[in-house]
Amino acid sequence: MSLSTLAPGGSIAEQTTHLFWWMASGAGIVWILVLGTAVVAARSRQRGENRRVSILLILGCGAALPAIIVGALSVAGLKQVSDFLTPGDGRVIRVTGERWWWRVAYETPDGSLVRSANEIRMPAGQRVEFELRSTDVIHSFWIPSLGGKIDMIPGHVNRLVLEADRAGRYRGVCAEFCGSSHTLMEFDVTVMQPAAFDEWLALQAQDARAPHGAVARRGQALFMNHGCGACHRVAGTAADGRIGPDLTHMGSRPGIAAATLPSDVASIAAWVAHPADIKPGALMPDFPMLDAGELVAIGTYLEGLE
Ligand code: CUA
Repeated sequence: MSLSTLAPGGSIAEQTTHLFWWMASGAGIVWILVLGTAVVAARSRQRGENRRVSILLILGCGAALPAIIVGALSVAGLKQVSDFLTPGDGRVIRVTGERWWWRVAYETPDGSLVRSANEIRMPAGQRVEFELRSTDVIHSFWIPSLGGKIDMIPGHVNRLVLEADRAGRYRGVCAEFCGSSHTLMEFDVTVMQPAAFDEWLALQAQDARAPHGAVARRGQALFMNHGCGACHRVAGTAADGRIGPDLTHMGSRPGIAAATLPSDVASIAAWVAHPADIKPGALMPDFPMLDAGELVAIGTYLEGLE
């Protein structure tokens, strides 16, 4: 899962890559023209050919030619920006930058929202429109292999259209310094075949599955008794908090803590015990009162929420 813009995973990113190469070539040509002009002009001046120097500088490579090249590249770039903002195929995903994680909500045809966090799934071959917000500071939403990057600004909704050609995994990052754990603010992107995506979304809309086994049941009881539900939602249970990430299907995501750790029992246990040790400045409090067995039970419960 590279973070390279030069390895495009869809048509929009491909356009950006092409534009990059055109711009790099244009810049190279202008650079060579300007240097060549400087050398020729200096020599002409030594020979006293001042009129020739003026013509060369104004009509030739000093002003006119670079202006034409840069102008053409700017027009091509601006046209592409407007392409990026052309609405998608009706698929809308809302993403909100938080300290330091990603709140995700999928709009569905019946108007309801399917809530998730720190992972984005997209159907292959469809233009998906992202509605981007922030609740605190300016973050920046960027999936380098799929296209452009755009800021997430408090009090303002930005839109970005992205498309992935084929099923696969990608990585997204926050591309704007937003505080002490800015570098620990990433997310996984999973592109699925459209039918598989629809099936997945229907499952995500369902309530959490009941804990399986004695350890997971103990974990659920601890989760409820320690007030985790004040911040986290697990649909179908009493936990209905909206402050932190929605955990209804947490176990189906590839990572936890905004792609900082893998999604397994040990990582969840370590995170719950001391979040700020893993992510400095994280808003989730420590739970030092939980012993190792209790942490494993909570980890087992959450890991099982697929
Ligand atoms: Cu969020 Cu950097």
